[in-house]
Amino acid sequence: MAKSGKPKSKAKTSDLHFYHLGFSKSKIAKLHITKALLSGDPARAERIAKKYLKKPKRIADHRGLSFWIGQLKDGEWVLSATSGMGAPSASIIFNELVQAGIRTVIRIGTTGAIQEGISVGEVIISQAALCRQGAALDIAPVEFPAAADPEMTMRLVLAAREKAIPAHIGVTASVDTFYEGQERTSSSANSRLIRSMQGVTDEYRDLGILNYEMESGTLFKMGLIYKVSVACICGVIAQRRASERVDQKMIRVAEDRAIQIAVHALGIKT
Ligand code: URA
Repeated sequence: MAKSGKPKSKAKTSDLHFYHLGFSKSKIAKLHITKALLSGDPARAERIAKKYLKKPKRIADHRGLSFWIGQLKDGEWVLSATSGMGAPSASIIFNELVQAGIRTVIRIGTTGAIQEGISVGEVIISQAALCRQGAALDIAPVEFPAAADPEMTMRLVLAAREKAIPAHIGVTASVDTFYEGQERTSSSANSRLIRSMQGVTDEYRDLGILNYEMESGTLFKMGLIYKVSVACICGVIAQRRASERVDQKMIRVAEDRAIQIAVHALGIKT
């Protein structure tokens, strides 16, 4: 009882605030948001929301990562989130997104293709990853499979077909570093590679691996362990048969194709 004799007002129900996301659970829970598009680059997360979602609204801009909400065509609210670069950052964001209520994640990334017959500007849908990432070792034994959610992956494949965008489906090498770990020497500050990295691209090519990127392996493992559906689509911005370098002119084309497919796939109902 308060001094005035009036009963004390009930304490507000606590709203979980996420340290790394910079927003609270209620921000997305009140709109029943359970699906997220996850980009490494905050500018891509913003573009997805502004160009491909209805009623885009930024809900947080924290540690250089931006978080947006917006509606799909049918009015369903979704999140366009940023993971930052690499698996350690992506693992933290993924963990907090799941705590916030997210149950489906499509990573929209960029990638370097290592096989012949894949061109810059096309997209790669990962069915599984060779996971060479330290963060994943904190979460599961090295042998734990890094497999994408089959249903969401199928939706990405269907969406690519419906949009008539060339898409390659296969295994991705998900590694921790852009330079040494992807066997870059001529475009790197360090031209010397440790023995285990010398020839690794040829080895992966011989195994049929399609591409390099830096987050999907850990996210796939986390998805399986947390029982959250995770899929990954990347726009090809480097063709490693031709060059180590990223094709700057094709970044926007490749990203936009991957985004169009992912947004369409999120809206496919079973
Ligand atoms: N992202 C990567 O990890 N590698 C590339 O070559 C391009 C984008």
